[in-house]
Amino acid sequence: MLRIAIQTKGRLNEDSLSLLSDAGIKIDENKRKFLSIASNFPIEVLYLRDDDIPQTVAGGVADIGIVGLNEVRERGFDVNVLQKLGFGKCRLSLALPKDDNYTGLDFLEGKCIATSYPKILRDYMDSKHINCSIAQIAGSVEIAPAAGLADAIFDIVSSGGTLVSNGLAEVEKVFFSEAVLIGNPDMDEEKKAIVDELIFRFESVIDSRGKKYILMNIPTEAIGEAVKILPAMRSPTIMPLAQEGWCSLHSVVREDVIWDKIKALKAIGAEGILVLSLEKMIM
Ligand code: PRP
Ligand code: ZN
Repeated sequence: MLRIAIQTKGRLNEDSLSLLSDAGIKIDENKRKFLSIASNFPIEVLYLRDDDIPQTVAGGVADIGIVGLNEVRERGFDVNVLQKLGFGKCRLSLALPKDDNYTGLDFLEGKCIATSYPKILRDYMDSKHINCSIAQIAGSVEIAPAAGLADAIFDIVSSGGTLVSNGLAEVEKVFFSEAVLIGNPDMDEEKKAIVDELIFRFESVIDSRGKKYILMNIPTEAIGEAVKILPAMRSPTIMPLAQEGWCSLHSVVREDVIWDKIKALKAIGAEGILVLSLEKMIM
């Protein structure tokens, strides 16, 4: 039995649960306590505050965990980053009251910066040879300048909405983060095998996200052009139609470019284009 730690609530909770569910792992949410066992996979889920996940995995209380790379770096515990999970993307940035006339990092020399990430901030400022004092605050860092607690902040920025509504401007993007799967460095072979299966499933779920399955009829003579428009896993699947001179072509396309691709395919004679959702993709 493997134990995975995920966030109880907060920005990574829902996406972590969706990833497990899309990977075919059934966890009874209704009966959810602080520990719940999956009914069809040898795993149990431990719900924790994100800040506590790296330590819990490093100490072996959980074998693996899903947490932001920012927390992993800040806490500095000995864990392996096993996989990037593609969600929870954010950055740690320096921000100042928007009317300050920021001229570059020298502007922060001798200033006080409020943050919940003192280690990452200190490492960064040291690397840039800037002396500053750091006020460590657990939450609501964004109010520190207006409250007179600090000159600047160093905090998570995702949409940027929090900064705007607090009259702050992002001046330096320091550290880019996303959710990652972390693991205890000393798991036994049995646990490692379960982790490998999990990583394989996550990979196929992550690969299929943001992608669509597309199929169409196309004149045989246009296939060369179509293959250029649709680079696929290997190459598109092409099957002859009963009607002479026509083929059916199948491929996988990124959702963000699908309308451009459709336009280009129509221009070379594609007809009967179908776009289907893609559930899993095994490379
Ligand atoms: C972070 C951060 C900001 C907000 C930024 O807090 O401290 O408050 O998100 O996001 P935005 O750019 O989309 O507005 P979070 O919700 O992660 O809670 P936490 O600080 O308690 O971890
Ligand atoms: Zn937190």
